[in-house]
Amino acid sequence: MSQVPDDVREKAEELSRKINYHNYRYYVLDDPEISDAEYDRLFDSLVKLENNYPQLKTADSPTQKVGGAVLDSFKSVKHRTQMLSLNKVNTKAEFMEFHRRIIELTKIESADIEYTIEPKFDGLAVELIYENGILTAALTRGDGITGEDVTFNIRTIGAVPLRLNLNDEMPSLLEVRGEVVLSISDFERLNKQRLEKEEEPFANPRNAAAGSIRQLDSSVAAGRPLDFIAYGAGEFEGVEIGSQVELLKFFKKAGFKIPEYADEKRSYQEVIEEYGRILEHRGSYRYEIDGTVIKLNDFEMRMAAGELSRSPRWAVAWKFPPSQEQTMVEEIFVNVGRTGALTPVAVLKPVRVAGVTISRATLHNEDELKRKDVRVGDTVIVQRAGDVIPEVVKVIKEKRAGTEKKFEMPDKCPVCGARTQRLENQAATRCTNKSCPAVQKEYIAHFISRGAMDIDGLGYKTAEKMLENNIIKNAADLYHLKKEDILRLERMGDKLADNILNAIDKSRHPDLQSLIFALGIPNVGGYLAGVLAREFGSIENLSEQTVEQLESVQDVGPIVARAIYNYFQEAQNLKFLQRLKDGGVVFPENNATEITDILADYTFVLTGSLQFCTREDAKSKLEALGAKVASSVSGNTSYVVAGEKAGSKLEKAKKLSIPVKDEDWLVSLLESGGKNIDD
Ligand code: IVH
Repeated sequence: MSQVPDDVREKAEELSRKINYHNYRYYVLDDPEISDAEYDRLFDSLVKLENNYPQLKTADSPTQKVGGAVLDSFKSVKHRTQMLSLNKVNTKAEFMEFHRRIIELTKIESADIEYTIEPKFDGLAVELIYENGILTAALTRGDGITGEDVTFNIRTIGAVPLRLNLNDEMPSLLEVRGEVVLSISDFERLNKQRLEKEEEPFANPRNAAAGSIRQLDSSVAAGRPLDFIAYGAGEFEGVEIGSQVELLKFFKKAGFKIPEYADEKRSYQEVIEEYGRILEHRGSYRYEIDGTVIKLNDFEMRMAAGELSRSPRWAVAWKFPPSQEQTMVEEIFVNVGRTGALTPVAVLKPVRVAGVTISRATLHNEDELKRKDVRVGDTVIVQRAGDVIPEVVKVIKEKRAGTEKKFEMPDKCPVCGARTQRLENQAATRCTNKSCPAVQKEYIAHFISRGAMDIDGLGYKTAEKMLENNIIKNAADLYHLKKEDILRLERMGDKLADNILNAIDKSRHPDLQSLIFALGIPNVGGYLAGVLAREFGSIENLSEQTVEQLESVQDVGPIVARAIYNYFQEAQNLKFLQRLKDGGVVFPENNATEITDILADYTFVLTGSLQFCTREDAKSKLEALGAKVASSVSGNTSYVVAGEKAGSKLEKAKKLSIPVKDEDWLVSLLESGGKNIDD
């Protein structure tokens, strides 16, 4: 390689400096000084120099922000210090309780306690690691202990400096923690584009941000207008910072975006006032926020307050109440899910609720629909809280004009046209056609999921595309796929096709519990699948049981017994099982030893909405570890896991003094395979 002449090196450095500066003006300050064309000229000049002298292409060169690198998988990396999560409060009284705890722990007079207050951004938490001022790694939070290395995607974010903008006091190490976010307007634009391309829209800005960062092809992230806001530090060396206010000011100087109005210390009264102000303006923020974060300002005081295993005692998230708006129901349609259940959905006149435009709200089922008496043309109150799917709270009956139309659940499936039916004692109306395309689509997502056949590497989207393109007709067809079939999919490469085939191949030896769970028999979750596996030892034996025999098994009630029996009576299901076998799936016999039941002694109740997965998913994951998941709190409950908006069950748990855990706890429990139960 030829030596870089001094003048070329200097020219390149000057261009880098300029481009970094203009990036900062544009992405961080939102106040560009030059036109896009001028910027492009600078950028192209640097690209040219770097092409002539590839040695100039260093990790902190602004040309490295454009993306293009593709990975096979993410590397797991341990955080130097754990990335904690936050305890939550919902009311002023609860905040005051937090404040009193702080007084107790720090032994400081109430009036002398200083806090900061920041919006709580609803995005993806990451940690950026700078060594001697250069961005060397970026990790997701993961479970707090270990994250995934997403450096190549984080690099593409305009507001992330590749080199700290500091001359003096360059820290030898600085771990910047903050949130990757997408502004609400960019989110809405992105979803519009996705709809135009017939791609599934993202549910909320957080999913869009997380979905962009967890991509193996960095050009995806580069194409999304992601932003980064710095609000915390991991480890740092070579710089003196003693408080949150100092930290944020330092971040600002180094070239980061920080939360507005956060670099001010406040008394607890001022925190309460500021909370009120932020709440009042929640709809006018650029980013989706779901509350505020209040932190002790002084780092030494934080030490005195201490930390719990997963969250600090020196900070708290004060959440917003769900926000409500009025709008009109323009239409009601039904959606068909995995078990064939028909869910009525209201199409709304688009309305902004807490900053996000919503145009749909679930009406759950026929009874809900009747109870709320929602009609087409009605004026309704809708609400959303954080990640909760928007829902209709109530109809404003006074606004009825008499022209509103009642909605009846259809007697034909809107997807395949087959008859629908609602069984006695069940809330759901279902499509009766087992091979209804809507059912197959949802079913396959269950079939390939963890806890079931665990076909890691075949994404749900890919499976869906295979169905849509008639490459497969059902889940069993996966085991008959040939490479040339897979290659017929759009944007499918040779390597990816091989990976998919490998992943499918690996799943050909399931344990019995997973296989039974994968069948998707109504009401047979992971836990029951385990019971059945232990009791009957093989699919064949299970299929030969009578309803009475099934019912005699502990934990198997009459409805489930009937469902299992019915499953094996249907010719279509037997054909499906045979096709699995023909495709090389080995049906295990009597391998009861492999079944995990580490949580067999525990009963959980899940309440509120979870962020990482649906309650159904969490339930089957717990059950797969042997736990029982009950629907109501009683003296037998071991733990209540409360997500957002947890209501009466939480109250009851408190009354009965049953330990209440948050979602982070649940996630790390599941990740530990149940071993962390005593944490
Ligand atoms: S501080 C111990 N500040 O909330 C400090 N977190 O439940 C923990 N978040 O994973 C983080 N905005 O994703 C902090 N201004 C803010 C935040 C914030 C959003 C998220 C973050 C974290 C979660 C904690």
